[in-house]
Amino acid sequence: MKLYIDDADLGEIRRLWEIYPLDGVTTNPTILARSGRHPKETLLEIRKIIGDDAELFVQALPKDMAGIIADGEAIVSAFGAKTVVKIPSVPEGFAAMKALNRKGIVTCGTAVYTPMQAYLAAKAGAAYVAPYLNRIDNMGFDGVRIVKQIHDLLQKGGYSTEVLAASFKNSQQVLDICAYGIGAATCAPAIIDGFTKNVAIDAAVDAFIADFEKAYGKGETMKSLLQ
Ligand code: G3P
Repeated sequence: MKLYIDDADLGEIRRLWEIYPLDGVTTNPTILARSGRHPKETLLEIRKIIGDDAELFVQALPKDMAGIIADGEAIVSAFGAKTVVKIPSVPEGFAAMKALNRKGIVTCGTAVYTPMQAYLAAKAGAAYVAPYLNRIDNMGFDGVRIVKQIHDLLQKGGYSTEVLAASFKNSQQVLDICAYGIGAATCAPAIIDGFTKNVAIDAAVDAFIADFEKAYGKGETMKSLLQ
């Protein structure tokens, strides 16, 4: 499963990018607004951190087809070929996905709450569809189940469109969909940090070091002892 950072905080992106095997960064208008900087400046910095080969997702703002297409073209020309244009999965959005697909611009159908939206975005040529798992949970439905249902629908229909699951609130939700073979997930930094947050893991690592230092001396490492 591909894994993305769902954030625009440059410090957090730099930190997580160094630690984890990640595939890119996803943003949305709310996330960009939260960064407190001009979106162009923020997105160019993100592109610099992740390099030209990783995927960067940027959302188009207008609600009309022509406006979405114009935003999509501007986004790809500003941030490079590996930039995916996020487009809300609504009627005008489907029209824009079809047009951008014809121009070779990669799109992601976003704001997906239902399998029907995902089906239409896939048919319109979106490379990804982004269901909002936790927001679906909060509406009283089973987000994990709906994400799996969308995955099955795309597979059985023979679409190459991948599910990019978004809006997670815990690592169990991520693991659940990973085990099901979902193509991609995007998570806020706090969720990624939570993947291995576990007192048993920390205690095991600390015990190894304490045992070693007791026998060979404080601060000793394999390097220092093998010199
Ligand atoms: O881009 C969609 C995703 O970021 C939504 O996440 O946490 O705002 O529900 P959240």
